[in-house]
Amino acid sequence: MYTLKNLQEIIQDFISKNKIGREPWTLYDPINYTLESGGKRIRPALVLMACNLFSDDIEKAIKPAIGLEIFHNFTLLHDDIMDHADIRRGISTVHKKWNENTAILSGDAMFIKAYDYFLDCESEQFRDILKVFNQTALEVCEGQQYDMEFENRKNVSEKEYMRMIELKTSVLLAGALKIGALIGGANKKDADLLYEFGRNIGLAFQLQDDLLDVYGDIDVFGKPIGGDIAANKKTFLLIKAFELAQKNDLNILEKYIYGENNNRDEKISTVKSIYDKLNIKELTQNKILELTQKANNHLNQVQAENFKKTELKSLAEKLINRAS
Ligand code: IPE
Ligand code: IPE
Ligand code: MG
Ligand code: MG
Ligand code: MG
Repeated sequence: MYTLKNLQEIIQDFISKNKIGREPWTLYDPINYTLESGGKRIRPALVLMACNLFSDDIEKAIKPAIGLEIFHNFTLLHDDIMDHADIRRGISTVHKKWNENTAILSGDAMFIKAYDYFLDCESEQFRDILKVFNQTALEVCEGQQYDMEFENRKNVSEKEYMRMIELKTSVLLAGALKIGALIGGANKKDADLLYEFGRNIGLAFQLQDDLLDVYGDIDVFGKPIGGDIAANKKTFLLIKAFELAQKNDLNILEKYIYGENNNRDEKISTVKSIYDKLNIKELTQNKILELTQKANNHLNQVQAENFKKTELKSLAEKLINRAS
């Protein structure tokens, strides 16, 4: 059985050995730059781990795993344009280091590269696997659109928020697990249980990302702190704060989120102080724990040896307790 560490080494090694060495450099350098800039490599690890639950041979899952990681990195290139984000993984984002057109086109090329890797997948389930990938990719676009729409909307409900993060983030983790399971030879029931495990872990994962966006340490998180507040993102934290804030705090929140205010630092620190007062951090952490328990209930039902599931459970633990 492979440990998370083994798998991350396999993924890193593959990426390092498969850099794109072609012209035009301005198309491919940003791709190599992004893929080499690290990241946690969660999605390919999930593909390989799910495959390994049902099969000792993970070789045939490696290329789709890399395909998913490239797809994920492509979404980040475009996301950083949409979110006006200058720093990721502690370094300049592609649209800052090069320019927006480069980030758009290199991103497009990455999407195509992702399909190339899927095309190499030697599995009898090829069509089913590609269907999962396509559905997931389209849902990520849907989620991203809601995320942006919500920036300009008042009164986004918790339910709408949860659906938005399900689409923009959690289906990709869920899809990674399902794809890995199918390649490993899982039956439909187990593949679907793993999807549900991933869906709930993915929700918890995005809540943790929202939390770190306010409470993280920039040197570890690798992304600037307060970006979500500055951009009026309807995060779980902000939605809860609007729900719980009383008169004066509510007025302040409304003034900073819906009014005209150009002082970024002041806006971030004021909204954060309201979060602190309302214990929004603890509330979010409780929701994360609730989702993780739900996730584990699904994993427990999967027909695979228990010792093999422990590695997945510990990855889930790491994801919700992470600082980066
Ligand atoms: C960032 O994903 C985008 C979100 C869904 C929050 P990760 O936090 O997995 O990013 P990397 O790949 O590890 O940098
Ligand atoms: C990530 O959401 C979703 C996708 C990239 C599809 P965020 O916008 O919160 O991700 P970060 O915080 O920039 O990594
Ligand atoms: Mg975004
Ligand atoms: Mg973003
Ligand atoms: Mg974020």
